[in-house]
Amino acid sequence: MTGARVAVVGIHGHGASHVRNVARLAEAGRAELVAVADPQGADGLPAGVKVFAGLDELLAATAVDVVVICTPIQTHVPLAELAMRAGADVLLEKPPTASLAEFEQLTAVVEETGRACQVGFQAQASEATLKLAAMVAEGQLGELRGISATGKWVRKAQYFQRARWSGRRRLDGIDVVDGAVTNPLAHATAAALLLDGSTGVDDVRSIETELYRANPIESDDTSSVRITTSRGTTILIAVTLCATEHREASVIVHGSEGRAVLTYQSDLIGETKYGRADLLENLLAHRADPAVPLYVPLAATGGFTRVVEAVRTAPDPSVIPPAQIDWQGEGPDRRPIVHDVEHWIDRASDELALFSEIGAPWSRAG
Ligand SMILES: NC(=O)c1ccc[n+]([C@@H]2O[C@H](COP(=O)([O-])OP(=O)(O)OC[C@H]3O[C@@H](n4cnc5c(N)ncnc54)[C@H](O)[C@@H]3O)[C@@H](O)[C@H]2O)c1
Repeated sequence: MTGARVAVVGIHGHGASHVRNVARLAEAGRAELVAVADPQGADGLPAGVKVFAGLDELLAATAVDVVVICTPIQTHVPLAELAMRAGADVLLEKPPTASLAEFEQLTAVVEETGRACQVGFQAQASEATLKLAAMVAEGQLGELRGISATGKWVRKAQYFQRARWSGRRRLDGIDVVDGAVTNPLAHATAAALLLDGSTGVDDVRSIETELYRANPIESDDTSSVRITTSRGTTILIAVTLCATEHREASVIVHGSEGRAVLTYQSDLIGETKYGRADLLENLLAHRADPAVPLYVPLAATGGFTRVVEAVRTAPDPSVIPPAQIDWQGEGPDRRPIVHDVEHWIDRASDELALFSEIGAPWSRAG
């Protein structure tokens, strides 16, 4: 048994982990890596894996069941559409689309072709996330006061220099929306929406954005966003890529009878460790038996895409004054540290408030 015929598109960045994952499933006889597509080419792949410069050439030459797409954001929709129209199911990396219009376009392709489109929000397949969502739904933390997501990350110059699209709002006239909220820390917002049971496109009532940047980029690297969901929950996102040291992101449920902290990268609620399903394995199981639900069908990223749309249409990020930034490192290691950013993120999270509302000195209020 060789399993489903899988192709991976975009293999030199995060896509390398998808190539390794298909190899793992191949050992178990559940999948076979038949081809990859990347304009940079490829080497070191198992014998027999065909290499193409683009997905169109790959699909013209090779029959595939599943296409894993791990390419720059602005290429997601055309590539996913190509794959689904060729009859393949898709595992599409997050964020699935750069705008609400693209989301609607892709949703129409899913409906028209009847293909499966799983989105790479792997934290949505964590038992920790799903367990905490069930606890919230059952009222185990009492009345919901709100949900906050915090991200204190470090990204150096080399991160923004690795590709043309990195840190861009638009590129060559096409939306990219590669900012802290919508890309590197996208899982935090998506998980917060899942905890509220508000993943659908109509589950979000309003969104306020405050975008800032310390890096010489177009997009935000330090931001607060407040979402009010249709059921009335306040979700506050406070994130930075300019922290003093890199820490795991967390999503905090504030209930009248207690607080619970989800550390989704480690599948933890508080100190308790949970398991995690694999999104490609889940897609293969869904192909074999459509009664097996996908963890992250495209439709379950509609609420998240409303946030992408709000960030896309927001004014350009405000520049954090140089006096509020310390720079460390040289060349590719150079990185900004925004003064006391951890303190202001924690306060924003506790008070469900935007940075300017709590008077962060580098915010619009300062
Ligand atoms: N799920 C996660 O935790 C996670 C983590 C990192 C990145 N990602 C996502 O993965 C995607 C890729 O991010 P990255 O950081 O690896 O980007 P990257 O720019 O570092 O790598 C992209 C790769 O795609 C290739 N590529 C570009 N255009 C292509 C095309 N038209 N056809 C085929 N290949 C093409 C590039 O040559 C490169 O190998 C993004 O959507 C990103 O958000 C997800």
